[in-house]
Amino acid sequence: MKRQKAIPLESDNSYNNFIRSVSKIIKSEATQDGEGVTLNRSFPNQYISEFDPFLLLDEIGPINIKPGKQRGFPDHPHRGFETVTYLLEGKFEHKDSQGHAGIINSGDVQWMTAGSGVIHSEMPEKEFSKNGGKLHGFQLWVNLPKSSKMMKPRYQEILQSKIPTGTTKDDNITVKVIAGESLGAKAIINTITPIMYLHFKLEPGFRIVQPIPKEYNVFAYVIQGKGVFDPSDSNKVERGNLVIFDTDGNEVYIQAVEDSKIPFEVLLIGGVPIREPITRYGPFVMNTQQEIYKAIEDYRNGKFG
Ligand code: CO
Repeated sequence: MKRQKAIPLESDNSYNNFIRSVSKIIKSEATQDGEGVTLNRSFPNQYISEFDPFLLLDEIGPINIKPGKQRGFPDHPHRGFETVTYLLEGKFEHKDSQGHAGIINSGDVQWMTAGSGVIHSEMPEKEFSKNGGKLHGFQLWVNLPKSSKMMKPRYQEILQSKIPTGTTKDDNITVKVIAGESLGAKAIINTITPIMYLHFKLEPGFRIVQPIPKEYNVFAYVIQGKGVFDPSDSNKVERGNLVIFDTDGNEVYIQAVEDSKIPFEVLLIGGVPIREPITRYGPFVMNTQQEIYKAIEDYRNGKFG
């Protein structure tokens, strides 16, 4: 696709910007994990094994859980990367081997740096499980560079009310800034390598051009509605699709279709590629096979705390 000059928006008076081309659109695939939690997995799959520095993107649900029927993710280990859980609707209760526990509510983010290793569970919260309701959220796996793979585990838990939010003057576009910066709002989460994690909501017909640091790899995931990611292309992208951008520009274009009754909601996620060898075995992501054997051995010997 051809590179195109950005359309200047209210605060953007630079004409030296380029909009990134869309390189691939991949439909997420329905699958299950844990005790049978319904997921849409964007990657890894047969098309992409990872998207440096990201290792996995799952959409949890959206599903209506009948009373007593919510399933969870019982005890399992992680080493060498981070798991980022962003719940839009529903409630999860988490617990780990070192006594860290809590509830993730609708709108909350849990950024867990597994580092050297945790064993944790993510299970239905009692009350939610009893009553049932809508469950919808995301889990993203962020790789760690070799120098941080064995760091002490760390949690950052941000309540919905504490997530910085940006809006345009006319209120037609809002963004929750989980990592990075957008529309004047800056994230409060600290990331090991530079990461951007934005949740945009655009009213029908509105568009935004988001600046992207030039070294970032970036993708978008459509949560709801329909829109376009290329001003020269009218192909609409629908919910459940992953959009991978080229690195040929310093902006990403997002436009909501006009003829819609619902807003266009998109996750825009990016980061600086780590460019190190990846060896993964289920919940362990290291640089070498030797380190994977060590992880399995440490896990078996109860060294995950
Ligand atoms: Co986990």
